[in-house]
Amino acid sequence: MAEIQLKGISKSFDDNKVIKSLDLSIANGEFITVLGPSGCGKSTLLRIIAGLESQSSGDVIIDGREVNNVRASERDLAMVFQSYALYPHLSVQQNLMVPLKLRRLSRLERFPLLNWFLPKRSSKMIELNEKVLQAAETLQITHLMERKPGQLSGGQQQRVAVGRAMVREPVAFLMDEPLSNLDAALRVHMRAEISELHRKLKTTFVYVTHDQAEALTMSDRMAVMMDGEILQHDTPSEIYNNPVNLQVAEFIGSPKINVLPAESDSKGGITCMGLPISLSMKTPKQGSIMLGFRPEHTELLSSNSNNCFEGKITYKENLGSDIYLHVNLKEDQHKMIVRSEPDKALDAKIGDMVKIGWMVDKVMAFERNGQSLPTKSKS
Ligand SMILES: Nc1ncnc2c1ncn2[C@@H]1O[C@H](COP(=O)(O)OP(=O)(O)O)[C@@H](O)[C@H]1O
Ligand SMILES: [Mg+2]
Repeated sequence: MAEIQLKGISKSFDDNKVIKSLDLSIANGEFITVLGPSGCGKSTLLRIIAGLESQSSGDVIIDGREVNNVRASERDLAMVFQSYALYPHLSVQQNLMVPLKLRRLSRLERFPLLNWFLPKRSSKMIELNEKVLQAAETLQITHLMERKPGQLSGGQQQRVAVGRAMVREPVAFLMDEPLSNLDAALRVHMRAEISELHRKLKTTFVYVTHDQAEALTMSDRMAVMMDGEILQHDTPSEIYNNPVNLQVAEFIGSPKINVLPAESDSKGGITCMGLPISLSMKTPKQGSIMLGFRPEHTELLSSNSNNCFEGKITYKENLGSDIYLHVNLKEDQHKMIVRSEPDKALDAKIGDMVKIGWMVDKVMAFERNGQSLPTKSKS
């Protein structure tokens, strides 16, 4: 198990500053995800932790020891990549054995023919076989040991790749989008398997992904990364419910949060496109602000409701468990996506006029520059 600290890490490729003075503390045994859009620097960050890439400045500290000049092979971390990087000509058993042989056997001992002359080799091999078998049992791949990677499904290959990291008994696992080559159903299944593996092993996991569902479901804490910076580092629920700014609010949540222009008065009262919202700012300040309404915090109201948004349905998405209505609001051509329970929206048709209400204690307020604004509901 390991505690990993990143202090003031930056990285440039020529003029391209990919990581900008980044700090991150990862506790012993924690499962942390680094979530961000493609190109924001996630893989580069993971490679810097692993020692596969050197940072331009800053320190990587593992268990209190600065490892800036320690080689990847000596950092005791195991990396699992998006492309599983298995050896195609070796069986699953041999694939699992490779990292162990490289670490535990001397150059001479790696030649099987020398078995007779190197008596220690046999006992070491028994021990290594035992480790491989243990990992295979944990991952439930013992029945696949004689197959080659080409004879395995994507999910099975993924398990072998994790197994290969496991046999080394690393102090931390670094995983770079390990599920992104799998189809949707298998991805959901493997999410649960990797979480389960973390519970069993109790080792530190640093998991990089662009998939918010993975980050929200799997991690103890997640770090939201954009443009080489970590914008927020907290529990999934805190990031979902209290995003530090509009960028984070818009990145987390599917469908995306609805954002509408609003005004706050000198007493802190808020109106949104002419409608009073029963919400006030904790620090009153007159001016233009923005309000965020997550689709699941809005609802269809009956036609005789007052003080609500009104608009025309332009698109209906029926997901079975939920229906999402895309609505063009009357005012200013703003759009809104509303989540509804299926039976409430079954009859709603494209072109219908609808009224929309909101859960006031879930509405989020942001300054024009996107910073989150503290509010309190009046009700
Ligand atoms: N070896 C490299 N040489 C030059 N540019 C690189 C190199 N590796 C990554 N980059 C650039 O750094 C940025 C971040 O890349 P990466 O860390 O792979 O992002 P992510 O994993 O979040 O998609 C990209 O603009 C990419 O082109
Ligand atoms: Mg990447």
